[in-house]
Amino acid sequence: MKIAVFVSGGGTNLQAIIDNTKDGILKDVEIVLVLSSSKDAYALERAANNGIPSAVVSRKDFDSIEAWDDAVVSAVKASGAELVVLAGYLSLLGPKIVSEYSNRIINIHPALIPSFCGAGMYGIRPHKAALAKGVKVSGATVHFVNENYDEGPILLQKAVEVLPDDTPESLQKRIMKECEWKLLPEAIRLIADGRVVIENNICRIR
Ligand code: GRF
Repeated sequence: MKIAVFVSGGGTNLQAIIDNTKDGILKDVEIVLVLSSSKDAYALERAANNGIPSAVVSRKDFDSIEAWDDAVVSAVKASGAELVVLAGYLSLLGPKIVSEYSNRIINIHPALIPSFCGAGMYGIRPHKAALAKGVKVSGATVHFVNENYDEGPILLQKAVEVLPDDTPESLQKRIMKECEWKLLPEAIRLIADGRVVIENNICRIR
């Protein structure tokens, strides 16, 4: 299966996918495009280091959402990707890409949705919010993407304990290592194997 990975930052989730295509559960998966919302994303270097084609398509370089949305759709179509994976991608997608790739776009969120998600809940913020609430577990969620932040059908979740001496940074690190870097490749595996069915907004794994 061919996939496009959308990024905005460091790209450790992209790296987890790359590693699994080389020596892991995604040997039959090809990353045909890394699309970044920012020219400064370190994820672009990870793509270059691994010979993966990349493109920068920034909302701010376009006069309208429509023009930007069209450019995103064109890039994905030209790549031949069948699945779009948002791996630390910070822009809300435009309506055209969401409808043309309906049920073919997944996102990883660093909390157990529906907790600590939605607009503004990115980076360190979900972890700060989790500690401020005093939750005893947190984790990560892979979900399908619709036109709202963090709202489509949930595909996979994995939890870790919140420890008494956790800081937002230590919790973030543990969730990345123990949840995100495993969950996202697992989700791609399930989709590549045709094991995911969505009915009435609920994902079932066959
Ligand atoms: C991850 O925590 C991811 O869950 C969130 O943004 C962060 C991206 O990290 N959506 P990286 O760029 O993959 O290192």
